[in-house]
Amino acid sequence: MQNQTPLFTKLVEHASRNPIQFHIPAHKKGFGMPSEFSDFIGPNALSIDLINIAPLDDLHSPKGIIKEAQELAARAFGADHTFFSVQGTSGAIMTMIMSVVGPGEKILVPRNAHKSIMAAIILSGAHPVFMHPEVDAEIGIMHGISVDTVRVTLDAHPDAKGVLLINPTYFGVSCDLKTIVELCHERGVPVVVDEAHGVLFKFHDDLPLSAMQAGADMAATSVHKLGGSMTQSSVLNVREGFVSPAHVQAVLSMLHTTSTSYLLLASLDVARKNLAVYGQELIEKVLRLARNARKIINEEIPGMFCFGDEILKTSATFAHDPLKLNISVKELGVTGWEVEKILRTDFNIEVEMSDLYNILCIVTFGDTEDTLGSLIHALREISKRFGVQEKKDLPQVRIPSMPLLAVSPRDAFYNKQTEVVPLKEAAGRIMAESVMVYPPGIPIIMPGEVITQDNIEYIDENVKAGLPVQGPDDPNIEFIKVLK
Ligand SMILES: Cc1ncc(COP(=O)(O)O)c(C=O)c1O
Repeated sequence: MQNQTPLFTKLVEHASRNPIQFHIPAHKKGFGMPSEFSDFIGPNALSIDLINIAPLDDLHSPKGIIKEAQELAARAFGADHTFFSVQGTSGAIMTMIMSVVGPGEKILVPRNAHKSIMAAIILSGAHPVFMHPEVDAEIGIMHGISVDTVRVTLDAHPDAKGVLLINPTYFGVSCDLKTIVELCHERGVPVVVDEAHGVLFKFHDDLPLSAMQAGADMAATSVHKLGGSMTQSSVLNVREGFVSPAHVQAVLSMLHTTSTSYLLLASLDVARKNLAVYGQELIEKVLRLARNARKIINEEIPGMFCFGDEILKTSATFAHDPLKLNISVKELGVTGWEVEKILRTDFNIEVEMSDLYNILCIVTFGDTEDTLGSLIHALREISKRFGVQEKKDLPQVRIPSMPLLAVSPRDAFYNKQTEVVPLKEAAGRIMAESVMVYPPGIPIIMPGEVITQDNIEYIDENVKAGLPVQGPDDPNIEFIKVLK
């Protein structure tokens, strides 16, 4: 069964009949667009850039090939239902949150949550109760949420209508999701999971448990990030019980474009087949590459360090995805941002992300001994260039303080009584917009929160360091919108 690709196969079949098209898209197999683009993209891709005409089903009310493809995906991911998203995991996350909470209802959320979670909170009108993730000052990153944190927060907010967790974090660290799900379910609270970085988990025993394996109610999973489908294609996996799949479909449909990209849908169908049929074997191969690279970095490259299973000490750091190589460069006395630039300019290597201490490299099915060899070579050269420095010179990682929520994020965002003030003078005011650093898109402050002096300094430091601080209407982040 998992060998089949009903959606992709039907699209190819349809295109091969070469129908005369009087429907959108206007480019009609590429003939109606500039050849500089169509020649580059190629006729095959353009021939299946189609829309929801009757033979090709409709993501908004699937009854044919999309339904079949989603059912195969559900079986592969161990879900009761799988919904395809062509609006990334962001679209799936918004669907998930808006399916479980409405205006004024509480949802427990880790503070190191992605901007799409904050957007869903604003749109739904939900009341976020933020939970502190475990902070690793040595590595300079945030991990998962401990079982105790969830328990204490649920004790304090027994009226919560949902708990959101991240499995795993951007850096590949998972919390004890299964125990947390059991705890929440005992109290009748559904668990929804941001699984942007966990698509492979179901397919190899050496990886952390997937959200569905852990018993979670919904998981928004990026197939495109680590599973091999095209950028922007994700799935929303659903377990029946606490949530109604019919309602999830309705919300997904509200938030999704009606002009669904069949290229993205088809790539999901094929990526699912690949994971279900060959996943175990492919993951085994790349695990070997990643483990080998991690060993070389830790044993042979002075001043660099790549964490692994040794950090698994608490329920907030319960499991780790070895395919994420988070390489600390702080002992070289240089920042991760500088190393990212050197890798780009001197070695033609692009990393996933960098921060003060680290660069983050992901290892996927697209890697080979050669790609990792090139990375290792570049890291050795950079290590030689800087040499190991005295620890006392190292800058300190700062985690932004968590502000108080004075007004619901939606009420603050839609409030008409606002004014624009210089950021420097905004301490004590209530925010009407969000500020975050993207990537990873974690909020510094969101609408409804009371701005602290610490927030202002943190934003200023990030802007001065040239980091992508985003959110406010003013792109220079000199002025921000606050409630009057
Ligand atoms: C933890 C996390 N959640 C959600 C997302 C959103 O995923 P997408 O880019 O597919 O919308 C990202 C993307 O970077 C992410 O890192």
